[in-house]
Amino acid sequence: MNQQQTSSTTLAVAGVSKTLGGVKLFTDVSLQLQQGQSLAVIGESGSGKSTLLHLMAGLDKPDTGEVYWAGTAIHTLNTNQIAARRLRHVGLVFQAYYLMPHLNAQQNVELPFLLAGEKPNHSRCIQLLDQVGISHKSRSYPRELSGGEQQRVAIARALALNPPLILADEPTGNLDEDNAERVLQVLLDACSAQGCALVMVTHSVKAASHLNHRLNLADHHLAEHPTAELNPVENLAAHAANKA
Ligand SMILES: Nc1ncnc2c1ncn2[C@@H]1O[C@H](COP(=O)(O)OP(=O)(O)OP(=O)(O)O)[C@@H](O)[C@H]1O
Ligand SMILES: [Mg+2]
Repeated sequence: MNQQQTSSTTLAVAGVSKTLGGVKLFTDVSLQLQQGQSLAVIGESGSGKSTLLHLMAGLDKPDTGEVYWAGTAIHTLNTNQIAARRLRHVGLVFQAYYLMPHLNAQQNVELPFLLAGEKPNHSRCIQLLDQVGISHKSRSYPRELSGGEQQRVAIARALALNPPLILADEPTGNLDEDNAERVLQVLLDACSAQGCALVMVTHSVKAASHLNHRLNLADHHLAEHPTAELNPVENLAAHAANKA
């Protein structure tokens, strides 16, 4: 995979394999995502979805293969360079949220600005909290928030710097149906309006059906999910409007 092939590609994964604790999780995983494209990764618990997402985020190294962000092979960068690039290129929503316990919700969303050496854009952060339906808890600390509320703060934080790539690990996993739809819509809007590329790990085939592509991680391989040929079953915005 050369620079020319990948420079316009937000994320490229080429021939990636990973074994953890002596157990082979997946082998020869390859995919590419362009601006505005969204991909759902589905698979049984323990199949390696979070591990794959962490490799895409440069938090762990594959045993074989390469990961590229906008044409840059991240294995050519040192740890500090990867961290600096990740801050700008990748919005990460971890399965376990990882909010900073000593910062309130709004401060957590503003943290990426500070890490990037920028003055926080307060209005953007409040708007993001509003979009995920949690602005009324902007002064609450993580210990004062439910799991689903923390999850939504984590999603707002991931979007704060408007990164070209969003990697979200079960971002609707702890949410009721209405909030799951709301969060999904915010993520899909980031794809359509800002041209973000999105990889979303999910156990929900319904949530996955709204994304452009669906892949299934099973038997050590990432292959087309049986629903891959489905078009999005409904427009979420229209669905929400109909319900109102
Ligand atoms: N550091 C580690 N050392 C050894 N094994 C690990 C390590 N991290 C994860 N594993 C194992 O690798 C497998 C895949 O883990 P992973 O978290 O990627 O699964 P997952 O598909 O995200 O599952 P879930 O749907 O439950 O979140 C699991 O069996 C897990 O126990
Ligand atoms: Mg997981």
